[in-house]
Amino acid sequence: MIESSSPNRWTQNSALNRWIEEAIALCRPDHVHLCDGSDEESDRIATQMVEAGILTPLNQQKRPGSFWCHSHPDDVARVEENTFICSEKKEDAGPTNNWSEPAKMREHLKKLFNGCMQGRTMYIVPYCMGPLGSHFSRVGIEITDSPYVVLNMKLMTRMGEPALKHLAQDLFVPGMHSVGVPLKKGEKDVSWPCNPTDRRIAHFPETREIWSYGSGYGGNALLGKKCFALRIASAIGRDEGWMAEHMLILGITNPQGEKKYIAAAFPSACGKTNLAMLSPTLPGWKVECVGDDIAWLRIGSDGRLYAINPEAGYFGVAPGTSMKTNPNAMKTLVRDTIFTNVALTAEKDVWWEGINGAPPPGLINWLGKPHDPASGQPAAHPNSRFTVSAHQCPIYDTAAENPQGVPISAILFGGRRKGTIPLVVEAYSWAQGVFFGAALSSETTAAAKGAVGQLRHDPFAMLPFCGYHMGDYFAHWLSMGEKSPPDKLPRIYSVNWFRKDPSTGQLLWPGYGENSRILKWIFERTSNQAPGRETPIGILPESIDLSGLSLPHNASENLFRIDQKEWQAEIEELKKYFQRFASKMPLALLAELDSLKQRFQ
Ligand code: GTP
Ligand code: SPV
Ligand code: MN
Repeated sequence: MIESSSPNRWTQNSALNRWIEEAIALCRPDHVHLCDGSDEESDRIATQMVEAGILTPLNQQKRPGSFWCHSHPDDVARVEENTFICSEKKEDAGPTNNWSEPAKMREHLKKLFNGCMQGRTMYIVPYCMGPLGSHFSRVGIEITDSPYVVLNMKLMTRMGEPALKHLAQDLFVPGMHSVGVPLKKGEKDVSWPCNPTDRRIAHFPETREIWSYGSGYGGNALLGKKCFALRIASAIGRDEGWMAEHMLILGITNPQGEKKYIAAAFPSACGKTNLAMLSPTLPGWKVECVGDDIAWLRIGSDGRLYAINPEAGYFGVAPGTSMKTNPNAMKTLVRDTIFTNVALTAEKDVWWEGINGAPPPGLINWLGKPHDPASGQPAAHPNSRFTVSAHQCPIYDTAAENPQGVPISAILFGGRRKGTIPLVVEAYSWAQGVFFGAALSSETTAAAKGAVGQLRHDPFAMLPFCGYHMGDYFAHWLSMGEKSPPDKLPRIYSVNWFRKDPSTGQLLWPGYGENSRILKWIFERTSNQAPGRETPIGILPESIDLSGLSLPHNASENLFRIDQKEWQAEIEELKKYFQRFASKMPLALLAELDSLKQRFQ
């Protein structure tokens, strides 16, 4: 049954109504539901999913309103090889993106989507990225046949009627999503429908559209996140003079009560959520969380750089999250949370590697089977995740709802590097800071399909998320720095929590709450209160506050060691890498590389 058949009965927006009717005609769902975003609606959908065996309710005493589910074993992470940027010209997608000709991709998608929702309900999900009422915010509409996506979008975005109100007569970014498993009459559904053999996450940056087929997981399916807020938004930002970045935003207050905001770009599963929710070990310091994954940044009328978090929830990595490492996340997850691919305890609570000691007896692993500790396999998938509203975070910064955003004093770039890169270094200038971003490399993680632990270039932590040519993106960053005098712009830093002792292979830095020591130096640098020393690679701290911390022998030297041989290799590697961008490689960044080389001579 289709709940509305008259084109004008869906919404006040005629373009949206037309698109909905087209989607219905193409996908031929059994039912259509326009989401209002109410609690009653999500409760109803969750109940249906429990009845269908897709969601398992958790122990209501331990974790009220929360659910456990597990995905198809081949639908556990983002799929970069199936992700496409379909610009008219191949050159506009650049050498780091998979490109496909828009007309060809459309033709293929039309075939894939033809009748793909038979036997299912089509949900129309209006959502707003950014605070409601802010003129920086943008509306997207996701059409999906996954009730799991609907529940996640409700937690991750401002979803439903308020988003439609925000839309009024404006443009919206359409996103079509299907798990790609139509059902025949009477055919029973599986618990995690997906179509791994024909996955396709396609972006049309010029027409600002998204089409995603075959996956129900994370950034492949929750189209507001990586597809809209990064890939499409980065292209919009280029055209309109702002930036969409893979960055957390945190507020930090010193013991004197002075507050600043810091943004930080780290690749997937490299510590954004943890830094965003940090519990400082330094007495008197306070951190509040504005966002943990994405920032939209623009220059304000006072010349400073302002950031909003377009999201309203967290889709966070579970393994490694504990009361020791990230107590604020643990306190966020006490209720109304969806857990995907973690392990399930006999008491119907959740468990993952690193939560607290050894696996308890009677554990069900992420595949839904009894966990066998002797197997050597983890009980929770390394990319298992929690989805939860930001409002539950005990240190949620109410400034996250500020329609103007928050002024950024410092930008950090970081990755997983066992050598070369020191714990922290400050750029001499905006241009060198942009070079830090462009030069970022990191070991791969379980957040994307493929091998883990392999060092790869991941400029600005945007390699999988930039919606256009990476060389043009570098140039866009440089041009942003020309919009304001240097003293108004944030200072830029490179950080590395993951340096190891080459002889023992042990991490040199305890990380997590102890990262507050690095944030303190950065905070004080941005008001010229902390000394630094000039080195070939940038400004290193004269000293870091290590009070009350006992580091392994020689760790503090090793954390800041600048090894000439390692740097020469790094420079040669970057030289080769930058050649990939050919004539699009900004000369200013080649000049930065050159002066770096010079400073080592
Ligand atoms: P995405 O959601 O994929 O973008 O990841 P993220 O960048 O938010 O990473 P997250 O904070 O979830 O951390 C990923 C993994 O790195 C977790 O297992 C953390 O426990 C671990 N981690 C985070 N911060 C630190 C740190 O300071 N030191 C160490 N050693 N590990 C960390
Ligand atoms: C990431 O991979 O950077 C994530 C998870 O934040 S996903 O939404 O799947 O992209
Ligand atoms: Mn991310």
